Amino acid sequence: MMLGRGTLGTAAERFEVIFDAIGEAIFLHDDSGRIVEINDAAARMYGLAEDELDRVDIGQLSAGVPPYTQADAIALVAAARAGHPQDFEWHARRRNGELFWVRVRLSAMSIGGRTYLLAVVDDIGERKRFQEAVDANMRDLVALNTKLENAHVQLLQSEKMASIGQLAAGVAHEINNPVGYVYSNLGSLENYLRDFLAMLDAYEKAEPAMDAEARAAVQALRRELDIDYLRQDVATLLSETREGVNRVRKIVQDLKDFSHAGSGEEWRWADLHAGLESTLNIVANELKYKTTVVREYGELPQIYCLPSQINQVFMNLLVNAAHAIETRGVVTVRTGTAGREVWVEVEDTGCGIPPDHLKRIFDPFFTTKPVGKGTGLGLAVSYSIVEKHRGRIEVRSEVGKGTAFRVWLPIEAPAETGSAA
Ligand SMILES: Nc1ncnc2c1ncn2[C@@H]1O[C@H](COP(=O)(O)OP(=O)(O)OP(=O)(O)O)[C@@H](O)[C@H]1O
Ligand SMILES: [Mg+2]
Repeated sequence: MMLGRGTLGTAAERFEVIFDAIGEAIFLHDDSGRIVEINDAAARMYGLAEDELDRVDIGQLSAGVPPYTQADAIALVAAARAGHPQDFEWHARRRNGELFWVRVRLSAMSIGGRTYLLAVVDDIGERKRFQEAVDANMRDLVALNTKLENAHVQLLQSEKMASIGQLAAGVAHEINNPVGYVYSNLGSLENYLRDFLAMLDAYEKAEPAMDAEARAAVQALRRELDIDYLRQDVATLLSETREGVNRVRKIVQDLKDFSHAGSGEEWRWADLHAGLESTLNIVANELKYKTTVVREYGELPQIYCLPSQINQVFMNLLVNAAHAIETRGVVTVRTGTAGREVWVEVEDTGCGIPPDHLKRIFDPFFTTKPVGKGTGLGLAVSYSIVEKHRGRIEVRSEVGKGTAFRVWLPIEAPAETGSAA
C-alpha cells in the first residue's frame, strides 16, 4: 500500500528499497517466461548478474529440473494463470548449474491490462537436509526395530524350547525306567519261551511212549488250545513287541537329546564335510531311490563342536528332504564360510512347507507325516543342538518348489558352551 507521505522520496524509490530488502526471492515474469522484475534476494539466490537478466528466462532457472519435467512446470503456471495460486516445493537451478530446493508461491496478477506471474521463492535447502537427516534416522530406527522384533521372536522361540525341553526331560526320565525293564524283560521272555518250546518238543517226542488214555487227553488239549497256531504266532507277537519297544526307546532318546540331557560326548574340532559324507552314507537308503544328491561344497575350516550331534542334525535334514520328495528330485548339499561362521545347507526339490506350518516345524511333535513315519521331533532336536552350538537354522521354502534349511555354526562356539555337553 503506497501512502506517499512527505519526506520518504517517491513511491517508486520506496518500492525499490522495500522490494530489495525482502528476504524471499521475488520474480515477476510474463507468459513466455521473460523476467520483468526480480529483487536483490532473487539475484543472490540464483547467482544472477544484473546484466544477464535480459538473456535469462524463468524456464532456465526452473523448468525440467529432475525430478520434475517441463510439463509439470507448464501445468503449475497454467493453474496459477487460471486464478488458482500455487504453493509447491520445487527443484531449481542456479546460474552455475547447481540444483537447490525451493518453496514457490506462484500467483497471477494483472498490471496495465497484461497478466504477469509473481513467484515468491524461499530457499529450503537447509530444511530439506534436515528432513533427509530425520528420514534417514527414521529408517535406521525402523530397521533397528525390525531387528529387535526378530530378536524378540527368537527369544520367545528359545524360551518356548527351553520350557518344552524341561517337560520333555521329565517325560523322558519317567518313561525311560519302565521302558528299560520292559525291554530287558522282553529279552528274558524270549529266552524262557525258547526253553518252553524245547520242552514242548521233548514232550511231543515222548508221546508215543504214553499210555493210550493219557495220549488221547494230551492230543485233545493240544487241538483245543490250538497249540500249533500259538507256537507260530508267539514268535510274531514277540518280534512286533520288540519293534514297538524299540520305537519308544528311540522317541525317549530323541526327547533326551532334545532336552540337552547330554550324550556324554566331548567337544572337539571336527571336519563337517567328513560328517556330511558319513551321514549321507547312513541315510543312503532313504535317498537313493528317489533323489540325486548334488554336492556343492565350499572351503570349510574345522569347527569346534559335538560332532555326532551335528551329524544328527544333518541326518534329520537329509531324511526330511527325502521325505519331501514324492517321486523323483534333487537334494543339494552346500557348504560355505562367512566370517567367523560356517554354514551347511540342505535343499530339496520337494513339496515345500506352507507358510502357516513354517512357524511350527521346530515345535516338538509337530508333524505332517503318518503315524510311524514321523514323530515330529527331528527339527526340534536339531534346533536345540544348533542352539547349544550358538548357531541358528534358517529356512526358505516355496510350496510346490522345495525347501532349503541352512545351518549356521560358529567356527568356535563361545567358551561357556564348551563344557555343557
Ligand atoms: N524338507 C522339508 N520339506 C517339506 N516339509 C518339511 C521339510 N522338513 C520338515 N518339514 C515339515 O516339518 C515337519 C516337522 O519335521 P520334523 O523333522 O521335526 O518331524 P518329522 O520329520 O515329521 O518326524 P521325525 O523327524 O521326528 O521323524 C514335517 O512333518 C514336515 O511337515
Ligand atoms: Mg524329520
